[in-house]
Amino acid sequence: MNAVTPQRTAVPAPVGLLAELTHRCPLRCPYCSNPLELDRRSKELDTETWQRVLTEAAELGVLHVHLSGGEPTARQDIVAITQTCAKLGLYSNLITSGVGGALEKLQALYDVGLDHVQLSVQGVDAQNAEKIGGLKNAQPQKMKFAETVVALGLPLTLNSVIHRGNIHEVEGFIDLAVKMGAKRLEVAHTQYYGWAYVNRAALMPNKAEVDRSIRIVEAARERLKGQLVIDLVVPDYYAKYPKACAGGWGRKLMNVTPQGKVLPCHAAEMIPNLEFWYVTEHSLRDIWTNAPAFTAYRGTDWMQEPCRSCDRREKDWGGCRCQALALAGDAAATDPACSLSPLHAKVRALAAEEAAENPPDYVYRTIGSNVRSPLKEEAPL
Ligand code: SF4
Ligand code: FES
Repeated sequence: MNAVTPQRTAVPAPVGLLAELTHRCPLRCPYCSNPLELDRRSKELDTETWQRVLTEAAELGVLHVHLSGGEPTARQDIVAITQTCAKLGLYSNLITSGVGGALEKLQALYDVGLDHVQLSVQGVDAQNAEKIGGLKNAQPQKMKFAETVVALGLPLTLNSVIHRGNIHEVEGFIDLAVKMGAKRLEVAHTQYYGWAYVNRAALMPNKAEVDRSIRIVEAARERLKGQLVIDLVVPDYYAKYPKACAGGWGRKLMNVTPQGKVLPCHAAEMIPNLEFWYVTEHSLRDIWTNAPAFTAYRGTDWMQEPCRSCDRREKDWGGCRCQALALAGDAAATDPACSLSPLHAKVRALAAEEAAENPPDYVYRTIGSNVRSPLKEEAPL
């Protein structure tokens, strides 16, 4: 284990670790950002390895651990892993669907020191929500789960991923968050990687719907000041400037997959020719500092024009590498979501065109599916 690599100059420590404990999940959301090729249970890291990874994360300076997946409570050792976070002083956030075994493990998770719960909600109307999540009877389980989280006194964040199938429910998501006693609501427009990229035409809302959703959130923020915090992630394809994806490549976050591959962002595996290192072969510190996947787009040296000479280059770090690859065919290009990209007008036109057509059926997320990425050799735009 732990091959030794010549050290580069130290870089500031990551703030967060996304621990994708498993890709198993009772839901099948068509917007899932997991890769199309999902890790099987037989490949998952064992408990001891996760506990070592968490110890290394704490030593490296990580503050927050997001226990995620898939559905993290599908792992039998979720309580032991959460307890390790607590013992190491790592703030633990359970990112859960609230279905399957989530509810029965909640009290034990609370008892060992879980700090926070982020619950996904696919819709407000139960029938619509269950169509999107691909699981019957999920909504009552989620409601019961949320009620129990709040009754335990754990802070609750609701996460709603917005797309054309539920954008008419934005007001409803806000009312639901208030009713459930959530402290925070994420109104996060879909980001088109992984399964969401495959389903883009089925998910893309039109500009008028997007603008309306933003107005609703802005008004609610005023109205609910001091009661509910609402985070808004606007859809990249309609944005003026891109977001600093993952807080900037190799700057804030590490993402460990179920089999121990360490990524700078959750979708990085789609970028060809990046060399990823595994926690079974290198320490987290070595990976953070030296792994080729982390150094590839860290900082600004790799940038092309217009990013290279743009005064926002250390604000958004050129946007999203995965989106640049998906749309421009080059992960080092300016993210075409940026209005300064020469491809931006085409992105807008593409979004408008897809949103105007009748939505195709969802391609649901499935382990072992034969769905392949529609990304071609040539740039899609
Ligand atoms: Fe950001 Fe690059 Fe666009 Fe400038 S040109 S705003 S750095 S993505
Ligand atoms: Fe990979 Fe944005 S999702 S850089």
